[in-house]
Order: sequence, then structure tokens, then C-alpha cells
Amino acid sequence: MEYKNLLVEKDGTIVTVTINRPKVLNALNDETMAELEACFEELEKDDGVRAVIVTGSGEKSFVAGADIGELKDQDRKGGEERSLRGQAILLKIENLSKPVIAAINGYALGGGCELAMACDIRIASETAKLGQPEVNLGIIPGYGGTQRLTRLVGLGKAKELIFTGEMIHAQEAHRIGLVDKVVSPDQLMETAKKMAKTIAGKGPIAIANAKKAINIALDGNVKKGREVEAEGFGVLCETEDMKEGMAAFFEKREPKFVGK
Ligand code: COA
Repeated sequence: MEYKNLLVEKDGTIVTVTINRPKVLNALNDETMAELEACFEELEKDDGVRAVIVTGSGEKSFVAGADIGELKDQDRKGGEERSLRGQAILLKIENLSKPVIAAINGYALGGGCELAMACDIRIASETAKLGQPEVNLGIIPGYGGTQRLTRLVGLGKAKELIFTGEMIHAQEAHRIGLVDKVVSPDQLMETAKKMAKTIAGKGPIAIANAKKAINIALDGNVKKGREVEAEGFGVLCETEDMKEGMAAFFEKREPKFVGK
């Protein structure tokens, strides 16, 4: 599918989705959000996709937030609807049955930081800066950021970042658990693609079930999490991929997973 504000490139089983509005530092306007939703719906349906990378166009910015031009005239009802819609779209990314890696190439602010947090794994360039600066505009994070940031970095740090609106460098984001890896700018896409390829080489049903169980690990319902984990474990026991994986182990060879 062709998009106006997204570049979608497929390399084997790995798809890279690039937010492409560099003139406004890849800010997320309504049109781009709708395209992200449509794109991730397509990715969900495509059995040929085993891993997704999300990044921003240009060297300066991953995504510098929601498009402030579209935010300024909304009323209470419109604001709440915008927030619910943004949350729903990022939930589609979080719940995609395939792994999603954010390659954070610059500013990841506001909705950009929220988009990165909806991805499974965050790799940042040394030059990246992250933050939730919404309070500077008199608003709060509205695309799930209050919840995801708190889970990633804990109550105190989440409050510090959201209350102060201050940006932090990639290394500090790494130290507090907001990003998982920091690399030089020229290594960013290579590192993300290497990790995507490693994960894409595993059984897709195993990755999908691991993701599903991990995603509810912090729901506060550990019992439910264990049940989902057990259910996924059972599902996998009847797959060809599990038989292949275990056979390959004993035969001391690389497994060939087929997704069945
Ligand atoms: N929405 C709409 N436009 C944005 C934007 C956003 N979130 N972020 C940046 N832009 C636009 C700027 O208005 C500017 O447009 P112009 O060239 O027509 O003036 C262009 O992108 C470049 O940004 P600029 O501010 O000139 O770059 P900078 O290097 O001086 O500063 C930032 C970079 C990221 C620090 C700054 O753009 C910024 O603070 N952006 C807003 C971040 C934010 O509050 N996000 C949360 C939104 S809820």
C-alpha cells in the first residue's frame, strides 16, 4: 500500500516503516495517525512479515510529537476523542502479533516518545533526545504515555519527566530503562535490522505468544498472565515449529521455522 506520510519498505521478512514529514520533524498529524493504523492492520494480515522497524525520516527527529497545529483548537470532547483514538492506534502497534523495534534516530517527544514506547524494543542513536514535554503546552501525554512510561521507568521517574517536561539524552534514557540500547547514529539501522533478523529467524508463533504473555505481565493480574502464558505454551506444543526447533537442537543444526 502507498502512503502519503509513511515510507514502507520490505526487505525479506522485515518491514521498515518510516514516518516521513521531515519539515515538521515527523510530527504526527491526524492523517499520519490514520496511515499508521492502516499500515499496522496490513502488517498484521501479512504472513510474510516477521518483524517491523519504526523510525523517522532524516537525521534530526524520530517523531517530535503530535502535530501541535491540529491540537490547538480542540474542545474537551474533541480532546478526549483524540486521546482515545491515539491510544487505540498505539495499542494496535503494541498488540501486533509480530515484534516491533523502534529505531530512535533523533527527537522522540510527546506522541513520538509514546509511539516508541508502544514498540516492543527501543534502540536509540547517541544523538536522540526523549521526553514528554506536553505540560509545556498545558496538556498531558494522551496516547498512553502516562501508563507506558510509568511501567518502563517507575513512578518517580515518570512523574519527574512528565511534570518537568524536560528532555533527556539517549544515555540517560538507557540508564532509566526507557531505551534498551544506545548506538552511534551510523549503526542505528544496522543494529535494528540485525536484531529484527535474529527475532525473525525464530518461530513466529513462539514470538507472538511470548509477546502476548509479556504484554500482560504488568497488567497487575499475574494470575491472568500465567494463564495466558500457559495457554500459549500449550498452543506451541502442537506446532511444527516446536518439533523442528527441538529436532534441530538434538541434530545440532539451525532450525527452519515455517510458522505452522
Ligand atoms: N507539531 C507541529 N510542528 C512541529 C512540531 C510538532 N510537534 N515539532 C516541530 N515542528 C515544526 C516547527 O514548527 C518547525 O516548523 P517551521 O520550520 O515551519 O517553523 C519545524 O518543525 C522545525 O522545528 P524547530 O522548532 O524550528 O526546530 P528546533 O531544532 O529549533 O527544535 C524541537 C526542535 C523538537 C525542540 C522543537 O521543534 C519542539 O519543541 N517541538 C515540539 C515538541 C513538543 O512539544 N511535542 C509534543 C507535542 S504534544
